[in-house]
Amino acid sequence: MRKKITKAIFPVAGLGTRFLPATKSVPKEIMTLVDRPLIQYAIDEAREAGIKEFIFVTSRGKGALEDYFDHSPILEADLRKKGKTELLDTLKSTYMDSGAIAYIRQHKALGLGHAVWCARRLIANEPFAVILPDDVIAAETPCLKQMVEAYEETPGNIVAAMEVAPDKASSYGILDIKEDMGSLVSVKGMVEKPASGTEPSNLAVIGRYILQPSIFRNLNQIKSGAGGEIQLTDAIAQDIANGNDVYGFRFRGQRFDCGSKAGFLQATVAFALARDDLRDDLSRYLHDIVHMEKAAE
Ligand code: G1P
Repeated sequence: MRKKITKAIFPVAGLGTRFLPATKSVPKEIMTLVDRPLIQYAIDEAREAGIKEFIFVTSRGKGALEDYFDHSPILEADLRKKGKTELLDTLKSTYMDSGAIAYIRQHKALGLGHAVWCARRLIANEPFAVILPDDVIAAETPCLKQMVEAYEETPGNIVAAMEVAPDKASSYGILDIKEDMGSLVSVKGMVEKPASGTEPSNLAVIGRYILQPSIFRNLNQIKSGAGGEIQLTDAIAQDIANGNDVYGFRFRGQRFDCGSKAGFLQATVAFALARDDLRDDLSRYLHDIVHMEKAAE
C-alpha cells in the first residue's frame, strides 16, 4: 500500500524584511489575519489533510513561534478562574500532541531548497508535504487535502499551481507543461523565477507540495540557482530529468500572497468578511469608504 502523507515541513526561517519594522521583533508567521497568526492557517490546513508530524525550519529570532504552540499555564489558569471557557476553547487549535512538532534551524539563509533539505533526517525515506505559510489559501476543501486526494489517485511529486499574469511570472516557479489534463497537469520542466518573456507557461507553483524523498538526494547535488539560492524548484525539476513524475495541481480556492503587504491586507478583508461576528460592520465600513472616495472624485 502507498505510504500516507503524515509529515509536513514548514519553512519559516525567512527574515520577513518586507514587513519591517514589524518583523524586527515579531516573526512574520506570527502576524495575524484577523485574530489568528499566519502559521495557524497553515497548521489547520495540514491537520485537515491528515498531517501528524509538523517540522518547522526556523532561524534565530523565531522563539515566538515555539511559544505559540506551547501550553500557557498562567494564561489558562486565569481564564479558567474567570470562567472564560470560550476563550479557553480558542486556544485549543494551538496545542500540539507531545512530540508532534519539531524545530530545526537553518543556520544560513541559502534558499527554500536548502531549508527543506535541513529537515531530511526527520523525514527519512517517505513522501512528505511542504507548506509555505505566506501562501494562504481560502478553500472549501483545504488545498493540501485536495492534493492528498489527487496523490492517492496519481502518485508522484505534486505541486500546487495557479495561472498568473505574464508580467508576474518572473516572481514564481513556472511549469513547463507536457500534458494538460484539467486539474492535473503533467510537467516536463520547471524554471524558478524565469526572466521576463522566457517563461515556458503562465502556470505558477504556489506554496504547497507533495514530494518524494528522492528530492533530498537532488538537493544534495544541485548547485545554487535563481538569486544565488538552492531552489526547491530545481530539485523537483531534477526529479523529472531522473525520469520521475511531476504534476501541477490546479487547486480550487483563492490564494493570497501574504508575503506582500497588498496580499496580506486583501486576505485580512476576505477572512474578516467570512466571519459572522465581523461581516456586517466591516462591509458597511467598506461600502462607506468606497462611496466617499467616489464622491470625492
Ligand atoms: C517560492 C518558490 C516559488 C513559488 C513561490 C510561491 O518563492 O521558490 O517557486 O512559486 O514560493 O509563493 P518565494 O515566494 O519564496 O520567492
